[in-house]
Amino acid sequence: MNHQIREIKGLTARELGKPAYYFESVGSTNTWLKENGAKLPHGTLCWTGYQTSGRGRLGRVWHADAGRSLSMSLLFKPSYSAALLPLICGIAVSQALCMLTGRYYQIKWPNDIICRDLKICGILCENCLLPHGGYAVAGIGINLLQTGEEFKKRGLPNAGSVYMVSGRAPDMEHLVASIINKLEPLWQILNQDGFSALKSQYEKLCITVGREVSVLSPDGRLQRKGLAVGIAEDGSLLVDSGNGPIGVKAGEVSVRGPDGNLF
Ligand code: BTN
Repeated sequence: MNHQIREIKGLTARELGKPAYYFESVGSTNTWLKENGAKLPHGTLCWTGYQTSGRGRLGRVWHADAGRSLSMSLLFKPSYSAALLPLICGIAVSQALCMLTGRYYQIKWPNDIICRDLKICGILCENCLLPHGGYAVAGIGINLLQTGEEFKKRGLPNAGSVYMVSGRAPDMEHLVASIINKLEPLWQILNQDGFSALKSQYEKLCITVGREVSVLSPDGRLQRKGLAVGIAEDGSLLVDSGNGPIGVKAGEVSVRGPDGNLF
């Protein structure tokens, strides 16, 4: 759990990404930042190439074996809507990966990054509420070097890595800098003008909008089916089952294709 505090090369963002805590290995960058967030400044970054107890959305496990993937978390103070933060993180990751690998990455609502029908990246945003102003932690996990065989052995046939889809894997520190450089202006727009200013940008990248979806509760029970018609101002997915659009919240459900397939 030893860490170094060192500047990220190539970082042009002014607020986010500093100080930067680098760990050779850590249980979970989100957990570390949540535990230490009260005494750290807005923008603090925690990152590693080896996460031993990574956590995913809806209580799932996130695998991040040594040197195979990037795990990074950023601290946001004061706390910001955990529903909107993941959406702008998704835009930033998709833009950064596209810039560095020349492939087109899309977003499965709310924030899975998809390329060639494979999930390349997952994002977990968490809020810590305190009596005198809380904070939010945005965690990003990107599969970089894993092979299809490795994912199949783990029972994850829909997972993929940047290497699998592009034949290359960017340097981790370079990727960290690129993501944060993309994220900072999005964060500023979100604060100044609200999500309405970013909605169409998000919807263009989102593969879920315009598709038939099944809405499932975390235990896998089907809640309803319908057409995903857009994203609401609060980040909910608008699903129309025939009686007009109803908002679906990311923390409460997962979304599948009409036959239960991932997309
Ligand atoms: C998901 O798709 O379920 C979200 C996965 C989020 C994984 C990242 S890796 C960095 C941060 N630390 C964690 O323990 N989880 C997030």
